[in-house]
Amino acid sequence: MKWDKRHIISIKDFSREEIDYVLKKSVEMEERLDHEKTSTLMKNKILANLFFEPSTRTRMSFEAAMKKLGGVTIGFDYPEISSETKGETIIDTVRIASGYSDVVVIRNPVEGSARLASENSEVPVINGGDGSNQHPTQTLLDLYTIKKEFKKIDGLDICIVGDLKYGRTVHSLTNALENYDVDLCFISPQELKMPRTIVKDLEDKGIKIKESGKLNVKDSDVIYVTRIQKERFPDPQEYERVKDAFVLDLQALEGLKDEAIIMHPLPRVTEISTEIDGTKYARYFQQAKNGIPVRMALLCLVSRIDF
Ligand code: CP
Repeated sequence: MKWDKRHIISIKDFSREEIDYVLKKSVEMEERLDHEKTSTLMKNKILANLFFEPSTRTRMSFEAAMKKLGGVTIGFDYPEISSETKGETIIDTVRIASGYSDVVVIRNPVEGSARLASENSEVPVINGGDGSNQHPTQTLLDLYTIKKEFKKIDGLDICIVGDLKYGRTVHSLTNALENYDVDLCFISPQELKMPRTIVKDLEDKGIKIKESGKLNVKDSDVIYVTRIQKERFPDPQEYERVKDAFVLDLQALEGLKDEAIIMHPLPRVTEISTEIDGTKYARYFQQAKNGIPVRMALLCLVSRIDF
């Protein structure tokens, strides 16, 4: 497995063996979170967080992960305080940041921007989300959460609900699930169906897929809900038409499997009723917390630091 100066740009760049290896190392990292040596693994190392789009979880958990490893962070949380406002290109910004740091995390609204950044960086680049395209570290923590709950991924019935057209987390996740023996159900408004290229890739891999416009989740082990991605709609009226298409509430959970879990990459708007937060099914806050050991493991892996 090649980790030397490895960038993390798309989950499609990972084989199943590599995904499973990251999940295994994330378990090891979680087990040693409180070890004294863990807090020195990235001593004297610098993480540059380049966030051209808003973020709560990705930015904060990478920052927390780096600090828990003994490193420090630099960067910007929104582009208005960077020299992008003076016309600096992403290529130049990354060239500069990679000269100041050991790892770069970038979030940018333009699809392909993380790949472009990696091609112009002296150090590993991690994609923190590029438009509607990919969010590979979210996928790794999603898979980590699923495996932690069920001790497996193969054999599960996974239902993905919401904005399947613009949601990068669901694009990454389904790309990764191509590697596993799962049954998938996609539930969305007609206008927000999963892109046909992704569906075709899954079918070519022999994955069983159902697509539906009805919120029926009773057969699912994992219900993965996503927000309607308001910021990606070219037409605000189209967003208004679909924004409340699906709301998972207590009534929608009637008949749900006992062991089922509900996930969401967050942020949530209205698509999961807050009355679900206290049920035994809700895993979305734990899921976000799982970002810490997974991102700690990834920072060490791309930096070739053994643990
Ligand atoms: N899941 C996720 O990417 O959340 P943020 O947008 O808050 O980083």
